[in-house]
Amino acid sequence: MPAHLAGAMAAASAGLYTERLKHGRLGRAGLSHVNTHDSVFLKKFSLIILFLLTLTVILILFARHLNHLLPHELTAEAQAQIDARIAPVGAVFAGDEGVAQQAAATAAQQAAGAADAAYGGTLDGKVIFDQLCTACHTAGVGGAPKLDAAGIGARVAQQGLEELVQKATEGFTGTTGVMPARGGNPAITDEQMQKTVEWMVEQSK
Ligand code: HEC
Repeated sequence: MPAHLAGAMAAASAGLYTERLKHGRLGRAGLSHVNTHDSVFLKKFSLIILFLLTLTVILILFARHLNHLLPHELTAEAQAQIDARIAPVGAVFAGDEGVAQQAAATAAQQAAGAADAAYGGTLDGKVIFDQLCTACHTAGVGGAPKLDAAGIGARVAQQGLEELVQKATEGFTGTTGVMPARGGNPAITDEQMQKTVEWMVEQSK
């Protein structure tokens, strides 16, 4: 840029500056080009601010209105759901009291489990046999071995106790008929099957 041009521009902006000083905020508004521009801007700007303020108030009122529509009393159902969500998942057992509590909890769990197991969870082979197995094994239905030396007695002599227990538990199709798994009651535990077959073998001597 040539030096004389730069000088002219500097002079022009200095002039504008003095002009602003003369007619600035305190000067006679409207006379200066800059002042007109400023007041138009201010007018629009305050309109926008006013609009935004109004919008804010409207939004606040609207939110209050929505809030009033919501139920604020907890229903029993909602309270129960909250309780379930924040219920502790475990418990800490400490000291003598803790040991007693733990024993009680284990006992309660076992009692609940026993109720689920077949025939109250009994390990008395006779009880289970009399309620289920007798249906086939007393009369020999479908060739079911009876509780005598020729029936179960002969089978245990041939195969041994463990094999009888396993086959009776898993079920099998033999030469004469079908022995359903666990006599047809899947709720009977392995231990209960063991005890029942042992009892059957005991009766067959
Ligand atoms: C629906 C009839 C039926 C019921 C109920 C039944 N069984 Fe059997 N079971 C059979 C038949 C049939 C056989 C013989 C199948 C064959 O050898 O052909 C048999 C065979 C057996 C054997 C001999 C297994 C072997 O290896 O030879 C045992 C042990 C036995 N059952 C135990 C039980 C017990 C315990 C129950 C009750 C929990 C039970 N059964 C309930 C029909 C039944």
